[in-house]
Amino acid sequence: MTKKTLPFTKVQIEKIIRDYPTPFHIYDEKAIRKNAKHLLKTFSWNKGFREFFAVKACPNPYILKILKEEGFGADCSSLPELLLAEKVGIVGEKIMFSSNETPAREYQKAVELGAIINLDDITHLQYLEKNAGLPGLICFRYNPGPLRRGNTIIGKPEEAKYGLTKEQLFKGYQIAKEKGVKRFGIHTMVASNELNPAYFIETAKMLLSLTNEISKKLSINFEFINIGGGIGIPYKLDQKAVNLETVSKGIKKLFQKSGKINNPKLKLYMENGRMITGPYGYLVTTALHKKEIYKNYIGVDACMANLMRPGMYGAYHHITVLGKEKAQKSQTYDVVGSLCENNDKFAIDRKLPKIETGDILVIHDTGAHGFAMGFNYNGKLRSAELLLKPDGKVIKIRRAETVEDYFSTLDFSKL
Ligand SMILES: Cc1ncc(COP(=O)(O)O)c(C=O)c1O
Repeated sequence: MTKKTLPFTKVQIEKIIRDYPTPFHIYDEKAIRKNAKHLLKTFSWNKGFREFFAVKACPNPYILKILKEEGFGADCSSLPELLLAEKVGIVGEKIMFSSNETPAREYQKAVELGAIINLDDITHLQYLEKNAGLPGLICFRYNPGPLRRGNTIIGKPEEAKYGLTKEQLFKGYQIAKEKGVKRFGIHTMVASNELNPAYFIETAKMLLSLTNEISKKLSINFEFINIGGGIGIPYKLDQKAVNLETVSKGIKKLFQKSGKINNPKLKLYMENGRMITGPYGYLVTTALHKKEIYKNYIGVDACMANLMRPGMYGAYHHITVLGKEKAQKSQTYDVVGSLCENNDKFAIDRKLPKIETGDILVIHDTGAHGFAMGFNYNGKLRSAELLLKPDGKVIKIRRAETVEDYFSTLDFSKL
């Protein structure tokens, strides 16, 4: 069981709303820092351990800066994400560039920054060489295909577009070696929002065994294995957070066992997004309308533009009605946004206390893949992002979009 708590009170939120109208996402800095420290401490047995925060999960420079201060690198997959990392001073091998279908310009920027380049296909080796030159360190993304089961968000590995097959990996490292590359790493990412700790131990085992095979066959040494992101969070009350100690202990044992064959300095890398910031972000929204037809609806001022996960994957996000935390959940509502799309629903048939217009609703666990997935369909504007500082102050870390922003790529004067 997971308890859903809030780092602010109703009174505090009402005060914040006076300066920053709803909807907005608010992130809890203190909790993000505590969580980051815990992750690093748990894996500190591995001297080179690094977490490259998946920028796509929460692409805000203030959040990146916090994570940089805690010692994280950045996992980037596009030019803007590389630029964001650069802007907060995350450069060189503190960036893992894990992209796919990558344009030349993005590889050029990644090489310029000295990032670790993680190639998604064997043909990209040549493409990278031709367009940006080969760096001294190369990593390939492995897709184990039918050897591993995926999950609903990422799909089955053999149906996923990412990575190289096992045969291609051997060939890829061989070609890279022949071309003078001297440093190597390996990466995979086979599940998303996975709550079973054994899954990540299994992934490390798979990569360790593979690096042993490749090392022996090609006489190359691996500097790191990157087991990807994908550590899940308990969105639902009956789910349990992944026990990081269990994952760490399991992987440590594997490292100890394979230490003789493998390079003893082998580094363990991860690139989580969701588990780093997900539980520490909240979408705050106001109930605007109540509608009773064949079902009962609560219409709020946030919509899918602010949080797509429920509409896109049917994902559950817990909802708290501020000030009614202890009230009986006597009503059944669909909590909906204003898009002309019937899947613009934050909750379906959710048992909640009786809601009146003007009530403030907090949608939990929006700190990763929340704001970031926002879009402008229906002319809906993306919200502001706020940061709750450890001293209780609130700062704006992104303003809300305006109609001018929405029209900024149009030239009405040429009509
Ligand atoms: C290559 C890669 N790394 C890391 C992540 C982060 O995943 P999560 O936020 O689930 O940890 C993703 C998510 O899409 C990804 O595609």
